[in-house]
Amino acid sequence: MKTAIVYYSRTGNCEYVAKEIEKEAGCDLIKLETVKPYRFLNGGRAALASEEPELVPYKFDAGQYDHIIFGLPVWASCVTPPLRTFISRNIEALHGKKFSVFLCYKGGGGDKVIAKLRDLLGIQKFEAEMILIEPAKKPDIEKTKMIKAFAGKLR
Ligand SMILES: Cc1cc2nc3c(=O)[nH]c(=O)nc-3n(C[C@H](O)[C@H](O)[C@H](O)COP(=O)(O)O)c2cc1C
Repeated sequence: MKTAIVYYSRTGNCEYVAKEIEKEAGCDLIKLETVKPYRFLNGGRAALASEEPELVPYKFDAGQYDHIIFGLPVWASCVTPPLRTFISRNIEALHGKKFSVFLCYKGGGGDKVIAKLRDLLGIQKFEAEMILIEPAKKPDIEKTKMIKAFAGKLR
């Protein structure tokens, strides 16, 4: 059984992390994109309204994976809308999987997002969690170490 990283990234930070984890641990990447791209303002409103936007079609065969890693930016201390769509459309197929999560943000609201994701998935805890401040825009050795340690837990 394999691990999939399901991620959304508007400005590249989560994508950077997803690709670094893929290099380290050899997971499959599933990139979520919205049919209508978000801008800063409508993104914040959509997150606060728990919107579930239409996604560009993606390939996800849940039967191939026993572990799903979600990668998302924090928006207004909320779950990023494309991840909401993914979870609500796949909730039955996700039942019984292991889950991990990484978040990128500017420094506020990460714990709230992790709690909201746990509620959406109906789980008590993630296998692994990581929260990073803008790792692509502001890379440093500490963040690189955190990403390697996170990927190490998946092997
Ligand atoms: C609509 C919107 C709302 C945001 N809200 C927050 C927030 O509540 N807390 C925070 O720390 N950063 C917030 N940010 C910053 C992003 O989480 C941060 O830039 C993140 O690294 C972006 O990841 P990405 O490059 O993968 O899209 C927000 C950004 C956007 C566009």
